[in-house]
Amino acid sequence: TWTPASFVEESVAVIRQKVGPDASAVCGLSGGVDSSVAAILCHRALGDRLVCIFVDNGLLRKGEAEQVVKMFGDHYHLRLVHVDARKRFLDALSGVTDPEQKRKTIGRVFIEVFEEEAKKIEDCRFLVQGTLYPDVIESVSAKGPSAVIKSHHNVGGLPERMKLGLVEPLRELFKDEVRAVGATMGIPHHLLWRHPFPGPGLAVRCLGPLTEERLQVLREADAIFEEEIREAGLYDKIWQSFCVLLPVRTVGVMGDERTYDEVIALRAVESKDGMTADWSRIPHEVLGRTSARIINEVRGVNRVVYDVSSKPPATIEWE
Ligand code: XMP
Repeated sequence: TWTPASFVEESVAVIRQKVGPDASAVCGLSGGVDSSVAAILCHRALGDRLVCIFVDNGLLRKGEAEQVVKMFGDHYHLRLVHVDARKRFLDALSGVTDPEQKRKTIGRVFIEVFEEEAKKIEDCRFLVQGTLYPDVIESVSAKGPSAVIKSHHNVGGLPERMKLGLVEPLRELFKDEVRAVGATMGIPHHLLWRHPFPGPGLAVRCLGPLTEERLQVLREADAIFEEEIREAGLYDKIWQSFCVLLPVRTVGVMGDERTYDEVIALRAVESKDGMTADWSRIPHEVLGRTSARIINEVRGVNRVVYDVSSKPPATIEWE
């Protein structure tokens, strides 16, 4: 029978066997649950023969880059390469508004940056990826062009380009199993239960043009929503909760002034694996507090709305 502990034990053996006694492996660390569990699993198997690359693409949540460096570098003592590529991503994304185009651009720049860093690693012959079973299904269910719902940038053409073997220890697992495996390896609760976050990050939650200013608005609003959700004791009950910055302005009033500012949509869903989802019935008081705080504290936002759509037919993300 499958247990998290037996899975860890077997995976460590499989990874060691696959990578062999001399080669090194590289892992793209995003700070999310999947890549973290994959990295720590591989670190167990390979020790210093695993090098983790963390690319700060400027599309992360508030404080996230600092957290990743602290956790993996200072605490776990993984070999960690921290690349500040914020400007490079934003330049490449300037003027891009189409969702798939955003994903493609981010995927391309990520591969460029990642490849530059990976090339510096001696004897690097394997790539570790935190691909899960649902990612595999969504990506390969191509019965026609429309069957591929969204291209997941983390299953891109990197291994072929770099002639790397793939190590995907979580390929057969669902999210809840990944968390169980992480817990068995002593990964802290707050990391394990951090809501999933898409590879393209805030780019697919910032609808319309991406600018540093708009990303900053979204980042601040998102941090407030997360704070309120945690404060209300709801964070661990919800699959994902986040803010979306809409590409419209609406009229408002502040004092005697008419405002014409941006709109934040709050999204919170219940789900088992991300394949289907229902919108969270979070208390009106929590929504009210979040709305009041965002409008008061985040300059440039004068309206907050709550998304009450389920998946299907909507998706969890807005892009
Ligand atoms: P959707 O929006 O398709 O999302 O209902 C399902 C789950 O997948 C995440 N997601 C992504 N993850 N790259 C990722 O790594 C992506 O391009 C991407 N798009 C969506 C989403 O956050 C949700 O958990």
